[in-house]
Order: sequence, then structure tokens, then C-alpha cells
Amino acid sequence: MTTLCASTNATAHGLREIQHVQPADSSHFQTTNFDSEVRLGFAHRVRFTRDAFDPANPALREVFAGDRDIATRRAVAFIDAGLMQATDAEIAERLRAAFVAGGRAMPQLVEIVAVPGGESAKENHEIPDIVLQLVNHHRICRKSFVIAIGGGAMLDAVGYGAAISHRGVRLVRMPSTVLAQDDAAMGVKNGINRFGKKNFVGAFAVPYAVLCDERLLETLPDAVYRAGFSEAVKIALLKDPAFFECLERDAARIAARDGAAANPAIRRSAELHLRHIVDGGDPFEANEARPLDFGHWAAHRLESMSAFKVSHGDAVALGLLLDCRYSNLKGWLSDADHARIRAVIAALGLPMRHPLFADHAALLAGADEFREHLGGKLTVTMLRGVGQGFEVHELDHALVRQAALELA
Ligand SMILES: NC(=O)c1ccc[n+]([C@@H]2O[C@H](COP(=O)([O-])OP(=O)(O)OC[C@H]3O[C@@H](n4cnc5c(N)ncnc54)[C@H](O)[C@@H]3O)[C@@H](O)[C@H]2O)c1
Ligand SMILES: [Zn+2]
Repeated sequence: MTTLCASTNATAHGLREIQHVQPADSSHFQTTNFDSEVRLGFAHRVRFTRDAFDPANPALREVFAGDRDIATRRAVAFIDAGLMQATDAEIAERLRAAFVAGGRAMPQLVEIVAVPGGESAKENHEIPDIVLQLVNHHRICRKSFVIAIGGGAMLDAVGYGAAISHRGVRLVRMPSTVLAQDDAAMGVKNGINRFGKKNFVGAFAVPYAVLCDERLLETLPDAVYRAGFSEAVKIALLKDPAFFECLERDAARIAARDGAAANPAIRRSAELHLRHIVDGGDPFEANEARPLDFGHWAAHRLESMSAFKVSHGDAVALGLLLDCRYSNLKGWLSDADHARIRAVIAALGLPMRHPLFADHAALLAGADEFREHLGGKLTVTMLRGVGQGFEVHELDHALVRQAALELA
């Protein structure tokens, strides 16, 4: 017989008991259970603006407005070397000037450091180590700030350094690529690659704030700019058919970098990613299903198979093409919807094929890697129609092979 004492009442300590299970024969071992649910609340401040460093723009000051002791805090800023180079280091000057103008409404900016951008930022522990060293050197406490300005890769690496410094100092992200603004910076994940595997090392940590400045995108090379829209296509396919129609309508203008079409698409994609993370009930990804990773089992594999020469954004476009064709071959996705998806990806100027798809055996090994990273059984999102994702737990290898060979 088992004595079951289930309670959802908060205790005097504020602990919420979930279940006390006392096996009948436990007296001999005298086990006492205090199994409890840990509930956490975080503010996730996400703002979009233009010209964040213009002293007349209050957006940056407002990020810090909730902290009454802000004048006593310090900040160390990390800037993506690609962004630094593209702006002739002017970005650092503008940042410094913004902090000077902010006066006591802002933390004291003690140092600005350029760190490598791109996937190589995640190749080793170099960037997290630099963050640790500067947090130590400048006595950045848990109420002070690490500011990271750059692409998704360096945000992941700097964010990881911030997450493990004092078990978490405040992180302000200023994403400077489309992909970082429309997806990566919205998340609560930080990390670096190890053993040739994406994000093998990392930590979940909610950033203190995310400030997206559309001006930062102006110096992006065309290919990097466009690559970020694969994540917008992904989230539209999963969650928002009307948004997908906007992308269909505006794809050519977006590819031509028309801000009037592109910026609303970036914001909508960001909002959908954010809503999923905040309202989806699984921000730290304890469940097996990871719908935001639609197209990603193959994407991550293509990145590592190419020694990270294929960018994450391009790999996601290719991964979407593969899983949409697979869904189509399975009879889940109609020919018409499949054609629409291919047309949008093509009109956005994203890659439509890659020779690495010919190595379908190596590709398929990615499914197992993906499963291992998520934990539990294989769970991959497939598509029944625009806005109709669903989970499957096995892949038909012959059909993956067929789809992959068509895209090689
Ligand atoms: N943490 C998450 O939830 C999450 C989500 C999605 C993607 N990611 C990660 O994000 C990474 C991809 O990020 P990305 O697509 O932003 O690419 P990226 O960070 O690799 O940057 C691409 C290139 O652009 C340069 N760059 C950055 N900003 C620039 C600017 N404004 N002007 C000129 N050059 C600039 C960088 O130096 C780099 O060379 C991947 O590692 C991916 O795994 C993380
Ligand atoms: Zn992604």
C-alpha cells in the first residue's frame, strides 16, 4: 500500500508541495520526500527601436529605468568584431556617447571590447573566458551588466559567459543581424559548440533586456541579411498563415532590403518567437517537442557537416526545404502548399539546394544527434499545411534520402 499525500498548497516557506509518496515499506529506510515545484518569474524586456544610441532616443535609458540604484551599477560591453569593422569602430563611439549622455540614469560603462563574430565565436571557450575575466576585473556584480552587441553567435557565446559569471549577471542583448533580431535574441538560451556539435555547452538564462535597433542591420552583407528570414518563414509556417501570406507578398522587397517590408516582418517573427517562449509553457525546453526547431534537425547537421561554412540561417532554409518535401512525400503537405513554401524561400534569395544533401547517411545521423540534444525520444516537427505543424517520432529513411537527393 502507498500513502499518497498530494497537496498544491503553498507552505509557510513559500514552497509548493507537489506530492509526497511514502512507499509502505519505507519505514526501514526512513526516506522523507520534500518534492516541490520551483516556480520562477522573470521579466523579459524586449524592445524595438531605431537609433538606440541617439541621446534623444530614450529607449536605451528606459532599459535601465526599473533599477533605482542604476547609477551605482557598472557595465562592460562586448561588440561583434564584424559589426565593429563594418562601422569603422564608430559603433563603439556612439555607444560610449550614449552612456555619457545618459549620466546617472545609466550604469557606468567601464570597458568596450570587440570579440570575434560568426560561428567561430562559438568554437571554443575563448569568449566566455574573456567575459569571466572582465567581470572579475571590473568587479561586475550580479546587479551589474554585460552588454552584448552583435550577431546570434556572439550573443550566444557572450550570454553564456554572463550566465556562468557569479551564476548569472544581468545580460543586455543588442542583436545586430536579422536572424538575431527575429529569433536568436528573443530566446533564453546561451551557449557554445563542442565536439563539432551545435550548442553542446550552454545555459538557460533570461536576459535582462533585449534592445533591437533596426539601424544596426544596415551594415550587414546581403547574404547575412537575407539568411535571417529563414527563421521568419519557419515561424510563419508553424504559427501564422496570415504572416506567411505577408512574406509571400513581400519576399522580393525584403530580399531587396526594403525596410518598409522587411522591418515589420522581423518584428512579427520576433514577436511570434517571444510569445512561444513566454506563453508556450516550456521556456527551458523540458519537453521533448521543440516546435521552434522545425527544420533544425537537418539544419544543425548541415552546419556541422560543412564545418560551419553554411550559416545557420541558410541551413535553416535548407532544413525547411527538406522537411517540407518529406511532409509532401508522406502525403501530409499538399503539392500546392509545398510549391508556395519553395517559392517564398526562393524569392527571399535563400539557398534552394546544397551538395551536402548527397551525403544522406551523414545527414540522417543528425536526427540521432538532435534527439540526444533534446533528450527522450526523437521528436521532429512536420507540416500538414501552412500554420499546421505536428510532431512525429520516427523518420522514414528512404523518404528522407529521396528528399535529400532532390535537394543535392
Ligand atoms: N540562442 C538562441 O535561441 C538561438 C536561436 C537561433 C539561432 N541561434 C544561433 O545564432 C547563430 C547565428 O547567428 P546570426 O545568423 O546572427 O549570424 P552570426 O552571429 O554568425 O553573424 C554573421 C556574420 O555577421 C557579422 N555581423 C554581425 N552583425 C553585423 C552588422 N550589423 N554588420 C556587419 N556584419 C555583422 C558577424 O561578425 C558574422 O561574421 C548560430 O550560432 C545559431 O545557432 C541561437
Ligand atoms: Zn534557428
